[in-house]
Amino acid sequence: MTVAETTVAADVCCLKDTPKDCGSDVPAHFTMTEDEIKAKFPNRLRSYDLFKKMGSPRHIVAPMVDQSELAWRILSKRYGATLCYTPMFHAKMFSDDNPKYRNEQWQTSEEDRPVIVQFCANDPEYLLKAAQLVVGQADAVDLNLGCPQHIARRGHYGSFLMEDWDLISKLIRNLHENLEIPVTAKIRVFPEVEKTVAYAKMVEAAGAQIITVHGRLREQKGHKTGLADWDKIKAVKEAVKVPVFANGNILYFEDIQRCIDATNVDGVMSAETNLYNPAIFSGKVLPTWQMAQEYLEICDEIVTKSSFIRAHLFKLFRYSLPIHTDLRQQLANAKSMDDMHQFVKDIKARLIEDSQKEDARKFDLENIEMDEFGYRKYPHWICQPALRFEHDKEHSKSKRLLNEAKVADQNDKASDLFLIKEENKEREREDEDDCNKKQKLSQE
Ligand SMILES: Cc1cc2nc3c(=O)[nH]c(=O)nc-3n(C[C@H](O)[C@H](O)[C@H](O)COP(=O)(O)O)c2cc1C
Repeated sequence: MTVAETTVAADVCCLKDTPKDCGSDVPAHFTMTEDEIKAKFPNRLRSYDLFKKMGSPRHIVAPMVDQSELAWRILSKRYGATLCYTPMFHAKMFSDDNPKYRNEQWQTSEEDRPVIVQFCANDPEYLLKAAQLVVGQADAVDLNLGCPQHIARRGHYGSFLMEDWDLISKLIRNLHENLEIPVTAKIRVFPEVEKTVAYAKMVEAAGAQIITVHGRLREQKGHKTGLADWDKIKAVKEAVKVPVFANGNILYFEDIQRCIDATNVDGVMSAETNLYNPAIFSGKVLPTWQMAQEYLEICDEIVTKSSFIRAHLFKLFRYSLPIHTDLRQQLANAKSMDDMHQFVKDIKARLIEDSQKEDARKFDLENIEMDEFGYRKYPHWICQPALRFEHDKEHSKSKRLLNEAKVADQNDKASDLFLIKEENKEREREDEDDCNKKQKLSQE
C-alpha cells in the first residue's frame, strides 16, 4: 500500500459511520451522536426526506457568483429548473454586523423556493453565524468545496480545502450539530476514484445531507476546463446513502438523461450552459432576445445590480455580438434599466432581420444539423451552449476537450472583499478573451 492509499484508508475508517458505530475513531469535533442530533432538531429533514420535500428536483441551477441571483433563478425556474443554488456568499462577510454585503447579495421571495444558499468558509463559527441568518428562508445551506480560482487559494476556501479534510469535517459538522436547517456540500473530484469516494464519504459522515459532485479536478478551470468525469460521480453515488447531484458536461437537454443513465444520480446541475441557455431544463429551443426580454421584465420587478444584468446579456448574446460589434459597446455602457431595455430592443431588431435572410430561413428546428464532432449548428440568435473557443476538435470524441492554455497568475493584495471582486473579474476576463478570439476569427 502506498502512503497515499494508507492515508485514504485511515480517513475512511475514521469517518465512515456515525459516532456510535465508529467507537474510539470518532473525531473529537463530533460532540454529539446522530440520535442526540435528531433529538435536538426533530423536524429537520435529512437526506431523501429533504430531497422529497424540495419536490425531488432533477434540474438544478448551479451556484454562480454574481450570476445565480434571484432574478436569474426565477427565470430559470420558469423554464424547467426545479431547484436553484444562490451564488457563493463569503461567510465571514455575510455574518458581519454591518449588513451591507448581506443585503446586496442575498435576495429571496416566495417564488424562490426551493433554494439552497451557498457559502464559502474556513472558520466553523463564522459559517454557522452566516448560516443562521438564512434559517426560515432557505431549504438548506451548502458548503462550497469546489471553487478553484487563485483567489480561493489565497483566501483558503473552496477547492483549496481539499487537502484539509479535518477542517472540512469541522465546518460541516458544526452546522450538522447546531443549525436548524440541513447542510449540503458541493465537491470536486480527485485524480483517483478511490480518494474521491473516500472524500465524499467523509463529507457524508460529517453530516452533509446532499452531495453535489462536480466531476472535474481542481486544475480543470478556465481554458483548461475540459470534460467532467462521470465515472467518478457514479462511484460516489454508489458509495453514499444521501442524494447525489451530478455537475459537468451538460450542453443539451438530452445530456441530462444521458448523465442520469450514466451515473444514476438523483439530479443534474448546470452552470455555464444555464447562463447561455436559461431554457436548457425545458428542452425548448428559443431565441436569445426572448430570454433577454423576459429576464429584464423580472429585473423591472426585482432590483438587480446592473453589473449582473450586463454580464447575463453578454452571455445570452455571445454569438451575436461578434457580428453586431457596434452593439457591444452599447451594452458595455448600459447602466440603467432603460439602457438595458434599449439594447435588447436594438439587438432584437437586428437579429430578426438576420433570421429572415435567405440562408437563415433554411434553419429547421426539427432537423438541426450537426458538425462533424456532434455539436449542433444553431444560428447565432438561438440560445445555445458556449463551446470553449479553444477546445480541441481534432481529438474530441465528446464535449469541450482540455487544452493547455495558461491562466494568468494574480499577485495583488488580499482582503475579503478584494478576493470576491477579483474572482469575478477573473471570470469576466475569461469570457472577454473568448469573445475577442471569436470576433477575430469571424473577421478572418
Ligand atoms: C459564472 C460562474 C460562477 C460560478 N460561481 C460558483 C459559485 O459561486 N459556487 C460554486 O460552487 N461554483 C461556482 N461555479 C462553478 C459551477 O457551479 C459549476 O460547478 C461549474 O461551472 C461546472 O458546471 P458546468 O459544466 O455546468 O459549467 C461558477 C461557474 C460559473 C461559470
